[in-house]
Amino acid sequence: MKNILITGGTRGLGLEYAKYLSSKGYNIGLTDISAEACTVYDEVQDIKEIMHEIESNGVKCWHYFADLTKREEADKLAKNFIDNFGTIDGVVTSAGGDISGSDKAASGGKADNNSFFISFQEHENIFKRNYYTCLNTLRAIVPYMQQQKYGKIVTVSSVNAAFGVEKETTYSVAKSSVLQLSRSLAKELRKDGINVNCILPGPTKTGRFLATVRGRNPHDLEGLNSAERLLRVAEPSDVSPVVEFLLSDASNFVSGEAIKIDGGLFPQPV
Ligand SMILES: NC(=O)c1ccc[n+]([C@@H]2O[C@H](COP(=O)([O-])OP(=O)(O)OC[C@H]3O[C@@H](n4cnc5c(N)ncnc54)[C@H](O)[C@@H]3O)[C@@H](O)[C@H]2O)c1
Repeated sequence: MKNILITGGTRGLGLEYAKYLSSKGYNIGLTDISAEACTVYDEVQDIKEIMHEIESNGVKCWHYFADLTKREEADKLAKNFIDNFGTIDGVVTSAGGDISGSDKAASGGKADNNSFFISFQEHENIFKRNYYTCLNTLRAIVPYMQQQKYGKIVTVSSVNAAFGVEKETTYSVAKSSVLQLSRSLAKELRKDGINVNCILPGPTKTGRFLATVRGRNPHDLEGLNSAERLLRVAEPSDVSPVVEFLLSDASNFVSGEAIKIDGGLFPQPV
């Protein structure tokens, strides 16, 4: 059975990956910033609920809380994961989001629509939440994968990495950094048998996404539920099978790729 670490794993897309991967027989290590994080958008009431659902698939589930903007917390996470599972086959870096604030539940709110003129503090919060969480996680995990001469890394960027996006400046910059980190690392880690790929979801109906759309503009909510297969906002379940492909042996010769998961919304290459 493969052992997978999912950051930002107790809510939204990270939670969806955890449930889907466990249904496919992967052991799951969940990490998030705090025990409260999973409750912020009412997706679940308690982490025990998540553990129970994942374990009901006959796999192991373990969790650990860490603020991944802090290097030493990421290092402790990696050590604890290895102490618990023995090996690490894959990591999905879903921690992130375009919210500002730095509270312990990662609840925050959109920083004045993330315009160019948000405060430096807000800029730093958003950048750290999206880029440093990814960098710190990989810096902590990769040495273990190098020892094993095996590992699958799936980083989580956004379609924003490919375009100029008005009022999402810092988030777009941070997600571009995640993408370029992934590509560079894919080259650097080839000799170690480690694959690094990056997914770029388009708008996806997680609790956070729906909350920020509601807060932004009630009219934006209209049209989210078109019946057309490719002409709608993604469900979290549209993303998980792509993540599983990148963690599985089916993608053993795929590395350095950037895969948009947006129903063809942005057909341009990244
Ligand atoms: N939903 C979308 O439309 C969409 C689109 C493209 C990309 N994404 C990306 O997918 C990922 C998941 O998004 P989501 O919509 O599920 O949002 P979300 O806010 O529900 O998930 C983000 C997760 O990251 C965790 N997190 C935040 N800061 C952290 C920190 N300092 N340390 C550890 N964990 C931390 C949160 O607690 C949460 O579990 C994010 O990286 C987001 O940028 C989402």
